[in-house]
Amino acid sequence: MILSIYLYGQPVLREETKNVPKDYPELKQLVDNMFETMYHADGVGLAAPQVGLSLRMFVVDADVMGDDFPECKDFKRVMINPEIIEESEEEITLEEGCLSLPGIHEKVSRAKSIVISYQDTDFNTHEEKIEGFAARVVQHEYEHLEGHVFIDNISGIRKQLNKGKLNDIIKGTAKCSYRAKAVGK
Ligand code: NI
Repeated sequence: MILSIYLYGQPVLREETKNVPKDYPELKQLVDNMFETMYHADGVGLAAPQVGLSLRMFVVDADVMGDDFPECKDFKRVMINPEIIEESEEEITLEEGCLSLPGIHEKVSRAKSIVISYQDTDFNTHEEKIEGFAARVVQHEYEHLEGHVFIDNISGIRKQLNKGKLNDIIKGTAKCSYRAKAVGK
């Protein structure tokens, strides 16, 4: 089932998320729905707050970027209750976007590699080192769980330049090819 994607300005994107409990009802169904919603919107990651749920979990599938970034090949994960435990000092600056901010693309600096621990849908714990663009995708989604969005990382000037677009997203008049929930609509 395709879920509505909550857009910039929605309070849920700013809330502190809670750990997913082991008895969370129909977790696998939720994960399936999140993947379906993400693929339908041509995204490579989707975090629970983006579908209106204040939970520490996200899905990623960056395989589509495998030609440009080999580390993304077959990189499909569900990360439940993740914790980034290490970040490389070295950073890379590249352009990114977000399904909650349609039409906005800005350069963001992120750690080149990270080590993250997380649980899968059976609540088995994994620890994984992730590099390059795959690490970028994971850091972007992780940030959603902390109540942040990627635009928080850009300069005041860049933010000012995007003000019109941000207001359109809030008002619900921004162009968006998927089912979305704007504050103003
Ligand atoms: Ni995002």
